[in-house]
Amino acid sequence: PTITFIRPDGAQRELTIAEGTSLMQAATHHGLDGIVAECGGNAMCATCHVYVEDAWSERLPPLSEDEDALLDGAAAERLPTSRLSCQIIATAALDGLVVRLPDRQV
Ligand code: FES
Repeated sequence: PTITFIRPDGAQRELTIAEGTSLMQAATHHGLDGIVAECGGNAMCATCHVYVEDAWSERLPPLSEDEDALLDGAAAERLPTSRLSCQIIATAALDGLVVRLPDRQV
């Protein structure tokens, strides 16, 4: 699937990533700044926070309790569309997904 990441300044980057890869892994692998991922994808840090575009928000699997709790501690404002990018696993169904990066992760 191809996923679009939009930085706070509006710059966009499209990444075509392998199914089964998390958005966080893809972003860090491609050197996308704006994702810190201190805990390496273990749902423990909330520095991989992203905002999922409205149209996609409902199409993702629901938040786990851990993800929900961590998002409360995210550095940037939590919105209804906030997710942890390490918990979003790329599948064919997510082709075209658009996420926005928050203005800070720590
Ligand atoms: Fe730490 Fe996602 S990388 S919670």
